[in-house]
Amino acid sequence: MDATATGTPFSTLIRVASHEQHTEAETSTFMSDLLGGRLGVAAYARYTEQLWFVYRALEEAAGSLRDDPVAGPFIQPELMRTAELERDLAHLRGAHWRERLEPLPATAAYAARVAECARSWPAGYVAHHYTRYLGDLSGGQIIRDKAERTWGFARKGDGVRFYVFEGIANPAAFKRGYRELLDAVNADDLEKQRIIEECKRAFDLNGAVFRELGAATASDQGGPLSAA
Ligand code: HEM
Repeated sequence: MDATATGTPFSTLIRVASHEQHTEAETSTFMSDLLGGRLGVAAYARYTEQLWFVYRALEEAAGSLRDDPVAGPFIQPELMRTAELERDLAHLRGAHWRERLEPLPATAAYAARVAECARSWPAGYVAHHYTRYLGDLSGGQIIRDKAERTWGFARKGDGVRFYVFEGIANPAAFKRGYRELLDAVNADDLEKQRIIEECKRAFDLNGAVFRELGAATASDQGGPLSAA
């Protein structure tokens, strides 16, 4: 009998199934350096740039998925992050932030997978939606606090607006509602298993971006890459 047949809510299954990878993400070199206050603001800006490509893929698809029976219920305007990322990037990089901005190879692969799911597999898109937005509403708040203290951004101001959900007054209640949406997702048990697999893939895709960001950081700090 597969796990979804045991009556365990889907929101619990997906959280438990991704728990190990969540710990890996939290303890990745890039994230631990960020939370440990060991990164310069340039590394934070590079991370924010990469997020822009991911959220553009997630949010460009929102319009066409709004009426989809599986992904539609998850599309909620208060989650949208592209405008906030663009404001943060203007603050971090200046008005011309977009010129010459390129995704890292891992970011390009991640955004391409999100776009592919959005186009051809809305249930897979749900996995990507969950992995990013529920994370931003949770650990994102820890990252914001750290970024404000490390680089002196105004509390909830320019530079960290990505982490501020102005339209969500009570994040804990919102997350409860989101888990109810997951529990009610319009998918059979096999499809739910596939969503869980895609969530794991989403964590892997994030991990690959962190590794490439970590390598870029090591090279600008005179670390092993530039020394080689
Ligand atoms: C240093 C980085 C991170 C920290 C400190 C962190 C911390 C947390 C915490 C404390 C929660 C639990 C919140 C709650 O139960 O309400 C959480 C949940 C979550 N995080 Fe993270 N996180 C980090 C990175 C990430 C990353 C990189 C991802 C994926 C891209 C991610 C995805 C998630 C998801 C999907 C949840 C929701 C789990 C669920 O309740 O279903 N997190 N995180």
